[in-house]
Amino acid sequence: MPRVPRRTSTILDPSRTPAAPPVVGAAFGDDWWRRGVVYQVYPRSFADSNDDGIGDLPGLIAKLDYLNDGTERSLGVDAIWLSPIHPSPGFDVGYDVADYDAIDPIFGTLDDFDRLIAEAHRRGIRVILDLVMNHTSSAHRWFEASRRDASGPYGDWYLWRDGVPDRFGRLRNPNNWTSFFGGSAWTWDEIRGQFYMHTFLPEQPDVNWRNPQVRAEMLAMVRRWLERGVDGFRLDVFNAFFKDAELLSNPRRFLGRRPYDRQVHRYDKDRPELVEFLAEFRALVDSFPDRMTVGELFSADPGLAPKLTAPRHLVFDFELLRQPWSASAFADASEKHEQRFDDDRWPTIVLSNHDRSRQASRLARGADAAASDAIARAAATLSLTLRGTPFLYYGEEIGARDVPVPWPEIIDPPARRGGRLIRLVVPWWNRDQARSPMPWGGGPNGGFSAARPWLRLAPDIGTRTVATQEGDPSSVLVAYRRLVWLRRRHPALQVGTYRRIVTTARDVLAYERVAEGETIAVAVNFGRAAATVRIRTGRKWTVIFDTHERGIPDVHADDQLTLQPREAIVLQAG
Ligand code: NOJ
Ligand code: CA
Repeated sequence: MPRVPRRTSTILDPSRTPAAPPVVGAAFGDDWWRRGVVYQVYPRSFADSNDDGIGDLPGLIAKLDYLNDGTERSLGVDAIWLSPIHPSPGFDVGYDVADYDAIDPIFGTLDDFDRLIAEAHRRGIRVILDLVMNHTSSAHRWFEASRRDASGPYGDWYLWRDGVPDRFGRLRNPNNWTSFFGGSAWTWDEIRGQFYMHTFLPEQPDVNWRNPQVRAEMLAMVRRWLERGVDGFRLDVFNAFFKDAELLSNPRRFLGRRPYDRQVHRYDKDRPELVEFLAEFRALVDSFPDRMTVGELFSADPGLAPKLTAPRHLVFDFELLRQPWSASAFADASEKHEQRFDDDRWPTIVLSNHDRSRQASRLARGADAAASDAIARAAATLSLTLRGTPFLYYGEEIGARDVPVPWPEIIDPPARRGGRLIRLVVPWWNRDQARSPMPWGGGPNGGFSAARPWLRLAPDIGTRTVATQEGDPSSVLVAYRRLVWLRRRHPALQVGTYRRIVTTARDVLAYERVAEGETIAVAVNFGRAAATVRIRTGRKWTVIFDTHERGIPDVHADDQLTLQPREAIVLQAG
């Protein structure tokens, strides 16, 4: 897969930058980042317009009506976040950016991008870009210049260090830091005659955020995209930008599956300088109306996310994503969520993304398709009714599952890196499995492309497609549509307070959301058996959503309500 980027002629020219088209028909005004639903598009796998087997921007534009055409026939999302679309040699499938100001020709042109913004805004959909600023590609011209001339203008743009001679005079790594993708975080560069640091692959050198020119250049680039009409950014591993000024070695820790886990990452991330940088970054983003950002925290400490959250600036908390399918696990995680993200701090709800096992597989290990779909619908209910901004991952709305990829076909570079045997000792999750092409239906290769897709298709491509689910009221897709539109109609589901309702049924998680005079309750039966709950408050409750669509009558005080296996219901107090 890795390929050398072609230089593009579409360098962003501010004088050509069109005025940002307004977002028309957007439902929530400046509050959209809190009330709305964000949908992550993995552009390579979403929709292919020119039949080269790779998804692209014109393909995405053609599917915008599917995402939100203003009616309940569409999914109804408020924003799309695009994984990186810039020129890249593809060592980390786009997370190794070779030119921040251009669009990779495999995805289209800047004109296509402008059209995407205009067409999305016309439908009330905001567009969020992925900003990968911790590192560039080693093919970026800054790195090329930096490795060639230590005293030149780019000499100090990366983290270069001399080696440390050992007692035999051999040069050793400057410190003990490890790469998240395996091996040392330092690679020797023959051209420069020094080591450079990389948190991820050697083809992803970390930039030197202490250099004011790097900072100014990055922020100028951010400004250009904002001027172009981008509504926000997802910040890749933003808490790794700053490293200790002295580059001290990390303390060791004895337990941990991979070498990366066997260090306390005290000196290679989460440095205090981050706070000041975030303030500068936010001031820039806030100087444009209605924009938002969401930070990807690269950390095992879930307590950090709320500390770095600010109005209109979210930080992912992956706590829910780590839970097994159990009422008590989700209840505890939601409680923690509530404690950490108090009234002022707004949480995110994430159950899947391009780095993790898809929720319909992860939460339903070993289950058949019907059980996996039932769990997918119940999980969707949680995702769209817990307090926080939901981030959906393309394909989850049709209950897409992980697609096993045999070793010779693996593309994800970190998964290939260790080789077949080392993988048995140090397993690395192959992220290809969660990135398979979207099955639209009605054409070759699941309607994704007439050409062989860049990545293996799901084995159930013939039956699990958007087309097959659209007309099926019991499908995962129809459940998602109903839930998103329900959320759009009910402020309590968007911004309401969260309070857990204690039930005696072990497998049931129930909670209440209250706002603007509305009270909504949610009950989810995680179990494989029916579970009965008693409604104790002296009110009448109307069922406004039911994953099983079985026409439950109104529920009154002291009524018993039996939930079917894996059934989730939403009730409104009368
Ligand atoms: C986090 C991204 O989500 C992941 O896909 C990528 O490999 C690393 N950051 C490095 O950019
Ligand atoms: Ca294409």
